[in-house]
Amino acid sequence: MEKRFYVTTPIYYVNAEPHIGHAYTTILADFITRLYSLQGYDSYFLTGTDEHGDKINAAATANNSSPQEYADRISAKFRSTWDEIGIKYSDFIRTTEERHKKIVQEILQKVYDSGDIYFGSYGGYYCFGCERFLTEKEIVNGKCPEHNKEPQYIEEKNYFFKMSKYQQWLIDHINKNPDFIRPERYKNEVLSMLKSEALEDLCISRPKSRLTWGIPLPFDENFVTYVWFDALINYVSAIGYPNDEKFKKYWPVAQHIIAKDILKPHGIFWPTMLKAAGIEPYNHLNVHGYWNMEDAKMSKTLGNVVTPQDLVAKYGNDQIRYFLLREMTFGLDARFSEEVVIDRINYDLANDLGNLINRTFNMTDKFFDGKIPEYGKDMASKNELKENLERCAGIYLESSSKFQTNIGIEKLWEFIRSLNKYIDENKPWQLAKEGNNDRLASVIRNLLESIYSVALLLSPIFITISPKIVEAFGVQNPEFSVERALSFNNLTSGQKLSKLEILFPKLEKTKAQEKQLSEPKAKEKQEETGIIEISDFTKVDIRVAKILEAERVDGSEKLLRLQIDTGKEKRQIVAGIAQSYTPEEVKGKKILLVANLKPAKIFGIESNGMLLAAKKSSKDRPYVIFVDDSIEIGSKLG
Ligand code: ME8
Ligand code: MG
Repeated sequence: MEKRFYVTTPIYYVNAEPHIGHAYTTILADFITRLYSLQGYDSYFLTGTDEHGDKINAAATANNSSPQEYADRISAKFRSTWDEIGIKYSDFIRTTEERHKKIVQEILQKVYDSGDIYFGSYGGYYCFGCERFLTEKEIVNGKCPEHNKEPQYIEEKNYFFKMSKYQQWLIDHINKNPDFIRPERYKNEVLSMLKSEALEDLCISRPKSRLTWGIPLPFDENFVTYVWFDALINYVSAIGYPNDEKFKKYWPVAQHIIAKDILKPHGIFWPTMLKAAGIEPYNHLNVHGYWNMEDAKMSKTLGNVVTPQDLVAKYGNDQIRYFLLREMTFGLDARFSEEVVIDRINYDLANDLGNLINRTFNMTDKFFDGKIPEYGKDMASKNELKENLERCAGIYLESSSKFQTNIGIEKLWEFIRSLNKYIDENKPWQLAKEGNNDRLASVIRNLLESIYSVALLLSPIFITISPKIVEAFGVQNPEFSVERALSFNNLTSGQKLSKLEILFPKLEKTKAQEKQLSEPKAKEKQEETGIIEISDFTKVDIRVAKILEAERVDGSEKLLRLQIDTGKEKRQIVAGIAQSYTPEEVKGKKILLVANLKPAKIFGIESNGMLLAAKKSSKDRPYVIFVDDSIEIGSKLG
């Protein structure tokens, strides 16, 4: 079968301008699409804007414009932002376009005709930020935790989609397709929503008496479509559901990327809607965490916004792409800090990659008059280099295709660093001095082929810089493909290299940076004396968390599975305390949590952190350190 790839980003609300969170998802989708194209896939990448509903209507009113004018303006802003930062989307859909509205109405009519939509009345708590009713469990201290606002009680007569009918089907589908939702923590979250309570039917309309800014229901003039029922359909309307070739070609391989904020609509509403409409479910829902700015969540509503353009202007587009893809562990939250951006640029880009290219080009200049040398008889470990490249590139592609870009990129850097080592070990200057031109030629040729291959492999990240590197080798009609990269046989002997400007200029370090630089020394000292610096201790993020739920782990005598509230988020940990405590005893208690521990699987269950407990000897039972109820959740130890 032809290799195909279809990926989508959320369509963003036009109630405010694009920020770095939107840019991350969009850059990730752009990267992955380019990476699939590099592997010979026919790839398609959809993004767009979500323009109907209460929230947009309110934002337009607040800006003294009509919803359409307002949506036109902000949608154009999203589009031009993506164009400015080189996002190569295949299509940009707006939910106010005819092509979309028509399909929404068609699907509504189809589901209505099949009996899965009925008229009824409902009262519940509505969050306008989320644009959906919240269940009792989702309301924390009377507020929506996502938007930190009180939901509003709304009761009215509306149309409902029989979502409950598909609850068991969805549970079965997720169980049969373990990577339908990934990473696993979000699959578990959806399963626990599905298993812990009966799904309520989904209210899919708004009376025109209250809201007119929406797509009219095809079977009742007096109502418009609920914004989520409208928005999710973009993923199929944009590719021409039901008859277009594009739909037939791409829908069977559809993958969505979202952040955790919109897990429920994508993990529950959307698959059940598809089922009711007789459309196959999507292949994968890929869920990433949040970029947090100095510990606060970044969002339009909260106002602590860094614009993508500002960052790109300051640090460079390829640099920011690299940072975002390298720094975030897929599925977990990440902290956005310019210090770390600078670190990554200086260490990974300027030192590792930039130096490698510089040194190699300079040596080619010096020893071969700037011309690509032919291999000598002594191949200088050519095969080892090629095999190492294949291995690292393999992991880069494999991990990245599962969105674990940090792991994949790190693997490529392993190869890049090995090349710097290769220079240090082979000492080309020494070979030149000894007159060993045969080996010298091979060493330089190996390095040049390696750099060329790396430039091809990095081209989905470095959309401007990779082509520049490639160009410097003077290859006629270069083909950007993984196949070419792995061939390790792309260059023409005797071809003169062009001069390369400095690709990754080093950046000034701030004070905070310098402090970080001294850390490795502290580590050495610690190994000698067992004494640590305060900076070592403060690396451990210990905070007060509350145990919300506790249950025994099937098949284990020692383990309890705990759902805890860290003040920032809910998460799951597994703790070896079942022989000392029953689930009931710990439920509701406050504990100390090591919050920044690398996630681990214990008994096949994801554990995101560790609670602190004490024991006298390894045979003794652990005693959990419970903390006084008066200490607030989220308080940091230190
Ligand atoms: O929810 N970190 O649109 P939206 C990482 N219209 N990603 C972030 C982020 C952050 N701090 N903030 C936002 C909507 N995002 C609906 C979607 S889809 C049919 C309808 C990204 O404008 C992330 O992808 O609120 C998140 O899911 C999305 O923006 C929410 O964008
Ligand atoms: Mg949002």
